[in-house]
Amino acid sequence: MQSAITHHASHHKVAQGLVSPGTIPLPAMAGSAISCRNLGVRFFTERRSVTALQGLDLDVAEGEFLTLLGPSGCGKSTLLRVVADLINPSKGSINVLGAAPEAARLRRDIGFVFQDAALLPWRTALQNVELPLEVAGGAKRAGKSTPRELLELVGLSGWENSYPHELSGGMRQRVSIARALVSGPRILLMDEPFGALDEITRDRLNEELRRVWKETGITILFVTHSIYEAAFLGQRVLMLAANPGRVKEIVPVNLAEDRTLDVRETTDFVALAAHLRRVLEAC
Ligand SMILES: Nc1ncnc2c1ncn2[C@@H]1O[C@H](COP(=O)(O)OP(=O)(O)OP(=O)(O)O)[C@@H](O)[C@H]1O
Ligand SMILES: [Mg+2]
Repeated sequence: MQSAITHHASHHKVAQGLVSPGTIPLPAMAGSAISCRNLGVRFFTERRSVTALQGLDLDVAEGEFLTLLGPSGCGKSTLLRVVADLINPSKGSINVLGAAPEAARLRRDIGFVFQDAALLPWRTALQNVELPLEVAGGAKRAGKSTPRELLELVGLSGWENSYPHELSGGMRQRVSIARALVSGPRILLMDEPFGALDEITRDRLNEELRRVWKETGITILFVTHSIYEAAFLGQRVLMLAANPGRVKEIVPVNLAEDRTLDVRETTDFVALAAHLRRVLEAC
């Protein structure tokens, strides 16, 4: 019994980022949305092989907001693609919602948002959001919210019948978030979704994304190159280093849960951003 308690406590510490990951090789944590153990991904091309990820140990709790920060080529997109079952790991194990990533994909439990909204230009905002439900065919599953409700959730009510060319970049990205949520996924993967937007639009979407996260209770993995975005959005920041792609540090974010953008002027936030910058510079 004693050992069981210790066991659980150790896990908890890993999840909170209190101890460095990789020191306690344990089975997948119960109740976690994503568990990686000694995860490795290697790519072989004609000329060379690349270790995109190596020895990655990670537990993401259900409902957690985790941001990923690291230099170009450190494996951020690769990690998201492994979770989404778009590529297979070369080593180690990954568990998504209690099973292999394929099961989560087939249940449509994973939503993906990319840097480019990639909407179909001949379909309205509403029709773009409806698209995954149509494509799913036999596996069709409606989420908890209707496409119309999801457009409202991302602040686009009144724009249902507009075409992508009539929307701003920020609005198009909102549509792509609504589309990613339409099958009612439990995990939302976002790969630099606001990277191409101006700063004011990006700020606004950051605040709204935290609101959407709270309202849906969804688990989010969010890749960014912005220290401020990573610190503002996340409950923890996963920092990766490159060549080989590996965990550099997992930084807990100790800011108020109901934060607004003003939090960026607090000393806590400034200290956190400075720390993230120092780690990033050493990557
Ligand atoms: N399909 C592939 N074939 C070969 N190498 C690949 C492939 N995908 C990624 N890589 C390599 O794996 C490494 C990690 O790539 P990845 O795209 O995950 O990095 P990233 O952290 O997302 O970078 P960025 O910040 O530039 O988007 C890079 O060295 C990249 O060249
Ligand atoms: Mg990438």
